[in-house]
This record gives sequence, structure tokens and C-alpha cells, in this order.
Amino acid sequence: MNFTWRDAKVFITGINGFVGGNVAKKLVELGADVYGLIRTNKYNSYLYYEKIDKKVSLIDGELNDLNLLNQIISEEQINVIFHMAAQVEVGIGLKNPFLTFETNVRGTYTLLESARLNPDSLKAIVVASSDKSYGEYPRNDMPYKEDYPLLPKFPYDTSKACADMIAQSYTYGVRSLPIVVTRFSNIYGPGQLNFSALIPDGIRSALGYSKFIPRGDGSMMRDFLYIKDVVELYISMAEFLANNKKTFSGQIFNAGSNSPKTVKEILECIFTIIGDIDEYHNVLQKMKNKKTVGEIDCQFMDYEKVNDYFGWTPKHSLNDGILKTVDWYKRYLEIK
Ligand SMILES: NC(=O)c1ccc[n+]([C@@H]2O[C@H](COP(=O)([O-])OP(=O)(O)OC[C@H]3O[C@@H](n4cnc5c(N)ncnc54)[C@H](O)[C@@H]3O)[C@@H](O)[C@H]2O)c1
Repeated sequence: MNFTWRDAKVFITGINGFVGGNVAKKLVELGADVYGLIRTNKYNSYLYYEKIDKKVSLIDGELNDLNLLNQIISEEQINVIFHMAAQVEVGIGLKNPFLTFETNVRGTYTLLESARLNPDSLKAIVVASSDKSYGEYPRNDMPYKEDYPLLPKFPYDTSKACADMIAQSYTYGVRSLPIVVTRFSNIYGPGQLNFSALIPDGIRSALGYSKFIPRGDGSMMRDFLYIKDVVELYISMAEFLANNKKTFSGQIFNAGSNSPKTVKEILECIFTIIGDIDEYHNVLQKMKNKKTVGEIDCQFMDYEKVNDYFGWTPKHSLNDGILKTVDWYKRYLEIK
């Protein structure tokens, strides 16, 4: 029988985060029975702001707690896992590699070990890796392809590459779990409250709540996906995997917009939509001769493989996505 989301038991690590909260919202709409691991009751999150917390079962705890994970997966007879919990801040990674490795590496093998010990009900596990796992390649080698070797240098990037390889190792031989690994480009949209990321930082400052402090000269090239497009892709992937483990398990999928932009172009789009082009020119002045430290110069990918497998293309242009995102932040920042 084909897998359906109605009454499926879905476990999301990182449900109180940006991507996890958005995935949970969609799964609740689809009729799934959603469980989420929550480490801190941080109430200023998408999950609480959009009142999704009332529609899911939240379990307090740490990703590194094997007994707790065993209990959740076996007692609740979990069918699908979305592994979204991570320490995602590149700057924290540089200052505190230990914490980053503990969460992103140990957290991942603890979760997958728990899945290996309790495999009976499991049909699909989606592990969020990242474009950062590839490390730095020359601009001429972009877009990244799924078969490029992972060459990370910085702690966050290395932690994601380790988690990525660990996840792949759980799909082979006796461990044979149904896992797909996603290496998506930067994601933005409603619910992203990591204000060290470019788009939230840019929007918050263009709306006058802070001053934008550039981390480079604006020439760095990045690729951005709107969260609703990403959620749609995550849901398709888990569905396809649940219905056909043999074809999909162990597969790695990149996804990008096929339309990379420089940091300057992203900021121009934000400040133009908000209508403060003078401030954009001030930011450009501050960027002059500024050097970036500890970040990759250029990265982007395409959606060729996910299009082949799932017929997926992003539905939101950068302009559409930023317009919707600005609306959300206006509401969120006003009442915060
Ligand atoms: N946001 C992006 O641009 C992007 C792009 C590519 C990949 N990713 C990946 O997607 C995933 C989700 O990213 P996000 O932007 O939603 O991050 P986020 O920081 O908003 O959410 C991560 C969540 O993980 C939780 N968490 C951290 N450590 C934990 C621990 N030890 N135990 C339990 N929970 C813990 C945090 O409390 C948080 O709620 C991450 O794996 C990230 O690397 C994100």
C-alpha cells in the first residue's frame, strides 16, 4: 500500500527551529501525527509564534540522549524522521567547535544509532546536510554536483560533512536504513530567527530595527531557496523514499535556485522592496575593502537531480520570496 501522511507518525528533531517548524506546520496540515524533540522552550520561535506547538507532541530533551531517542522511536512507532536539529551558526562554529561537533556529529550518529536499534516501523529518514559540506571549490567549478568530494575546512562545514557521511554509512549493508541526505543551499523565509544570516539581518536592518554590519565587500556569491519550496521538496522526498526504499535510500540530493546572487544583489533586493535605497548605498560604502574571514567565497548549486527524481522546481523567485518574508518580519518584529 502506498504511504500517506494521514496518521503517519513523524518525528522531527529541531522542530523549534526555522526549517523544522515549517516542516511541522505542513505535516500537521497533511494530517500527520507529529512528534518533536525540543531542547529549550524558546518561545520566540516559529513553532510558538504560529501556534503549531498546540498541534504536535513535544518531547523535552537532548539529541545526544540515546535512551530518550530509543523511547520515542520505539514507543511511538515512528514512521518518518526529519533530522533538522543542528548548531547552525557559522560564527559559533568558529568560536566553539566542540559544541558544534557535539550537536552536529554526535547528535547525528546518536539519532541514527537509535533508528538502527528500532527499525521496524521506520520507512523514511531525511537527514539535512548542507551546501557547506562541499567546502570551497573555485568559482569555475560551480554549481556543486552531488558527486563532488566533500572538502570542508571550517568547523560548521566539517560538522555537516561528517554528519552527511555518517548518514550515508547507515544505508549500507547490515545497517541498511532508509535514508536520503539533502545538501540544500541557503534557506530563507518566515520563521528564520537566526539574525546572523544575511536575509534576516538585512531585512531587520532595512526595517530600522538594527544597523547592518557587513562581513565582507559584498562580492561573495550565494544561492537562496524560499522555505515553502524547501518544505515541498522535503515532503516529496520522504514520500518517495517511504514508497520505494530501493531506489532512493542512500541518495544525496542538492537543491539550489539555479539563480545565484552576490551579497550586494540580495541586499539591493531587500532594501528596494522596503524602499530605503539611501541606506543601501550607506551599506555599500561600509562594504568597501572589507575582507571576509572564515567563510566560503562562492557557492551555489542547481536542481537538476531533484528535478529528474521528483519533478521539483522552486516556485518562488527571490523577489517573490523576499516580499513574503518582509511581510512576515514586519508582523513578527512589531509585536516582539
Ligand atoms: N537555514 C539554512 O539556510 C540551511 C541551509 C542548508 C541546510 N540547513 C540545515 O537544515 C537544518 C535546520 O536548519 P535551521 O535553519 O532550521 O536551524 P535552526 O537553528 O533554526 O534550528 C535548529 C534547531 O536544532 C535545535 N538543536 C540544536 N542543538 C540541539 C541538541 N543538542 N538537541 C536538540 N535540539 C538541538 C535548536 O534548538 C533549534 O531549534 C540544519 O541541519 C542545517 O544545517 C539549513
